[in-house]
Amino acid sequence: MPSLNIPRHVAVIMDGNGRWAKKRLMPRSFGHKSGMDAMIKLAECAQDCGVKYLTVYVLSTENFKRPKEEIEALFELIRKYFTENVKKLYARGAKIRIIGDLSILPEDIRKTLEESQKTMPETAEFTLVFAINYGSRSEILKAVNRAVEGGKAVDEEQFANYLYTADIPDPDLIIRTGGEKRLSNFLVYQAAYAELYFTNVYFPDFNKRQFLKALEEYSKRERRFGNI
Ligand code: IPE
Ligand code: IPE
Ligand code: MG
Repeated sequence: MPSLNIPRHVAVIMDGNGRWAKKRLMPRSFGHKSGMDAMIKLAECAQDCGVKYLTVYVLSTENFKRPKEEIEALFELIRKYFTENVKKLYARGAKIRIIGDLSILPEDIRKTLEESQKTMPETAEFTLVFAINYGSRSEILKAVNRAVEGGKAVDEEQFANYLYTADIPDPDLIIRTGGEKRLSNFLVYQAAYAELYFTNVYFPDFNKRQFLKALEEYSKRERRFGNI
């Protein structure tokens, strides 16, 4: 394989879990469980490929419109992931970061998330960013209100520091699985110059081969940032 131009920051809209399960006559929660397994493998693969930041869209602000049972199943997976997997990530030389409004999550999940950060290494070659109850519009509004409170006009760099993603470089590549071609309120401000990659593959089937295909496609893109 020719050498690839590896994006520093890849962000993934992990979509299609429900349809993946439906195709197998299984409950949607089974799709989410399989999606979580795929996410764990994807993070390892991204780190091994030399990606520095991987952001995964775990739960959007709008996903709370779903039935209570589905939200509960998703919460349970988040609990399980953070109690069982985060230590392994740290042992692999990775850090984590959580973006989103955590205030409406159940108390025990918030505690687990806080706890998991206490044992985190200070420096790492790779950061896995979890977007949980994340929505770009709410993030931008919060940032605007903080800027207004400051009483002075802010520039782009200062504004970026008010976002959840402060200190995280903008995504170079955004991958959406599951066939839809939209951002669904994900990193709307940060995506200004991201390369977009859409695949029909449902997220539980998005494996190393699929990821490398996305990286190959990214390598072929010419990023001009408005220049010629
Ligand atoms: C993405 O899969 C995971 C979350 C949004 C939590 P979906 O649950 O949206 O799966 P589909 O799109 O219904 O197949
Ligand atoms: C986006 O998927 C949210 C996550 C992957 C967490 P959705 O399935 O919620 O998006 P829409 O509703 O199809 O736009
Ligand atoms: Mg979906």
